[in-house]
Amino acid sequence: MRNLLSIDDVSAEEIQTIFATAADMHDVQSREVKKLPALRGRTVVNLFFEDSTRTRSSFEIAGKWLSADVINISAKGSSTSKGESLRDTVQTVCAMGVDGLVMRHSASGAAHQVAGWVDAVVVNAGDGMHEHPTQALLDAYTLQRHLGSLEGRHVVIVGDLTHSRVFRSNVLCLSKLGARVTVVAPPTLMPSGIASWSEAAGFETSYDLDEVLPTADAVMMLRVQRERMAGGYFPSPREYTVGYGLTRDRLALLKPDVPICHPGPMNRGLEIAADAADAAQSVVLEQVSSGLAVRMAVLYHLLAGESEEGGA
Ligand code: CP
Repeated sequence: MRNLLSIDDVSAEEIQTIFATAADMHDVQSREVKKLPALRGRTVVNLFFEDSTRTRSSFEIAGKWLSADVINISAKGSSTSKGESLRDTVQTVCAMGVDGLVMRHSASGAAHQVAGWVDAVVVNAGDGMHEHPTQALLDAYTLQRHLGSLEGRHVVIVGDLTHSRVFRSNVLCLSKLGARVTVVAPPTLMPSGIASWSEAAGFETSYDLDEVLPTADAVMMLRVQRERMAGGYFPSPREYTVGYGLTRDRLALLKPDVPICHPGPMNRGLEIAADAADAAQSVVLEQVSSGLAVRMAVLYHLLAGESEEGGA
């Protein structure tokens, strides 16, 4: 694995290797001194052209705990606002001897394009509506910790599929790990072409959340991405919640202790009720701490290499 641009870049075996390293990294979180020397001398730039709380801060902490020098650049406040192109921006940054570039961009395919322009290792931290591979890895890692093997487990992904890079990466990742995946959305938020993709990739689709929930071993609620919606995809927020929200009533349809995931940020009261977000079986905050461990593991495998001192 030279870069991490898509879940297609990693095999099931490599995913399990990342998870094994993440488990070691998880232990670092509970230490008094949260520092490993693995990336000493390496420089990682977090280049974010879209807003982020979880991904950017966890990549920053991950790099710092691995002893890398970490620099954050966001489009607001950079020369991008003066009209500098993406290519000029990344080549300028990388001319300073950067080893790793973690980037988020609103354009699908941006990370792939950048990987062809620079020598630095590129990690896709979300490109438009395409992919968010480290989110899928941390989601699968979290679920595997709860369910054991994901082989044959039924994971139900619900919500705004059309605009979701999290859904696309998760379908690829969970399927690779042997899970049975069902995606649920209103017809207006089912991506076009999903019938042929689901047939080829072996996942199921449904418009009926109440029918699917009782067989779920895990449920993943997706954010309604109103900032990406040009028109009305549903009549009103209330109607969306009635049809597709994880409400208090729907919690009762789940088998006991079924993990409830949400990548965040959550629209409480729209796609997920507070009763579900804060339920004992909610793993939303665990996803965040797992995200840090998984991102440490990804940076370690991409940037340290086996010969580097101070390995995991
Ligand atoms: N899940 C996720 O990508 O969150 P942020 O936008 O806060 O990084």
